[in-house]
Amino acid sequence: MPHYPPEPFRIKMVEPIRQISREAREAALQAAGYNLFAIKAEDIFIDLLTDSGTGAMSQEQWAAIMRGDESYAGARSYYHLKAAVEDIFGFKYFVPAHQGRAAENILAAVLVKPGQYVPSNMHFDTTDANIRARGGRPVNLVIDEAFDPANTHPFKGNLDIDKLKDFIERTGVEKIPFGMITVTNNSGGGQPVSMANLKAVAETYHAYNLPFFIDSARYAENAYFIKLREPGYEGKSTLEIAREMYALADGMTMSAKKDAIVNIGGLLCLNDETIFKQVRNELILREGFPTYGGLAGRDLEAMAVGLYEGLDETYLAYRLNQCAYLSKRLNEAGAPTIQPPGGHAVYLDAAAVLPHIPPGQFPGQALCVELYREGAIRGVEIGSVMFAYPDPDTGQTIHPRLELLRLAIPRRTYTQSHLDYVAGCTAQIKSRADQVRGYTFSYAPELLRHFTARFEPV
Ligand code: F0G
Repeated sequence: MPHYPPEPFRIKMVEPIRQISREAREAALQAAGYNLFAIKAEDIFIDLLTDSGTGAMSQEQWAAIMRGDESYAGARSYYHLKAAVEDIFGFKYFVPAHQGRAAENILAAVLVKPGQYVPSNMHFDTTDANIRARGGRPVNLVIDEAFDPANTHPFKGNLDIDKLKDFIERTGVEKIPFGMITVTNNSGGGQPVSMANLKAVAETYHAYNLPFFIDSARYAENAYFIKLREPGYEGKSTLEIAREMYALADGMTMSAKKDAIVNIGGLLCLNDETIFKQVRNELILREGFPTYGGLAGRDLEAMAVGLYEGLDETYLAYRLNQCAYLSKRLNEAGAPTIQPPGGHAVYLDAAAVLPHIPPGQFPGQALCVELYREGAIRGVEIGSVMFAYPDPDTGQTIHPRLELLRLAIPRRTYTQSHLDYVAGCTAQIKSRADQVRGYTFSYAPELLRHFTARFEPV
């Protein structure tokens, strides 16, 4: 049995969960059009849909909630958050936003013009969609190792510098408003980016005068991976590593619902005063006054505390080991996962578990449905449902290179026996895998279709 790290906390408040019958699960699946986003959370036993906003806040965060200052402008809570943001990330300007995609929307609204391109290692789906929504095109330039699930490269989230230079040369800087990178690379398996790569990416963008933004949802997990895996960083604290990461960039977007361990919140930070003034106006229009940005004062307080708790190394060691444990147990059950395991989730290689289902029939979605059918477990497809798009030039469907089912682990929420249960259910599915069928859409919107699509079994 792989090692399971003892949780560095004890449980002070509990939320009951229950398991509904097999018949009730089947009825729920049908009513939801086989889309797990449409199933009531009460009817899920182990919810690994996302690690976003689903973590357990600490006693310090709950105490901070009680200290929230709900003044419309200039609240004390805003200044607490400002101090934390400046201390950790060091940018000149920042605004709170209600979540990551709100920050992305504002950035895209201010900077992206139709026909422009935004490169990254891999954009997350909301970033991708926010760029497309402004007529831009997201471009993914992650290293090739990222597409080989078995490859154990320690920094599979790295951006390929040769591909980036080539892309900028071919496209022309005038068609690129800014460049990005996502840490950790969620769409590619929660894989980290090395400090060396961040430096090379920053140098390349800056050589072409392109502002560099970091999508920072999982900045703390990335910093801890650098500490564990990159020579020269073993003696540095995650806080020092985070500061070094952000000193390389011109700004960041952030969903605080991940590594800042809050239920809602986001940030947009940057150094350029002109862009900041535009951002501020857009924020007032869409989100709220710049000292609360669509959040309550109490949310700002919880975020200010959570930004540091996310960097706690005892917690991070436990968290990364928890992912590694689930990954090993799934492998023992005969289900391959992306290697090495990521920081926030385990990614089942659905194409390998269900090799008879072609990408056009959504193997990741099929596996997702089976896990619910078997054990009322909810994961999320990260494959052709989420990322297959018609080529804007040819109209032909382009499938992503990986068909995955992500099992994201909410922070400080589930215990070892919950994860053992997930591994047990996966083993059951594996034993009858050849009987699992693929799916087709019965409804699909144009953008972000995984949230509201409906399916039928083939
Ligand atoms: N960037 C990354 C890397 C993300 O993983 C997410 C959200 C966002 C941006 C958008 O942030 O949800 O606060 O608007 N990821 C969640 C997930 C939804 O399940 O991985 P948001």
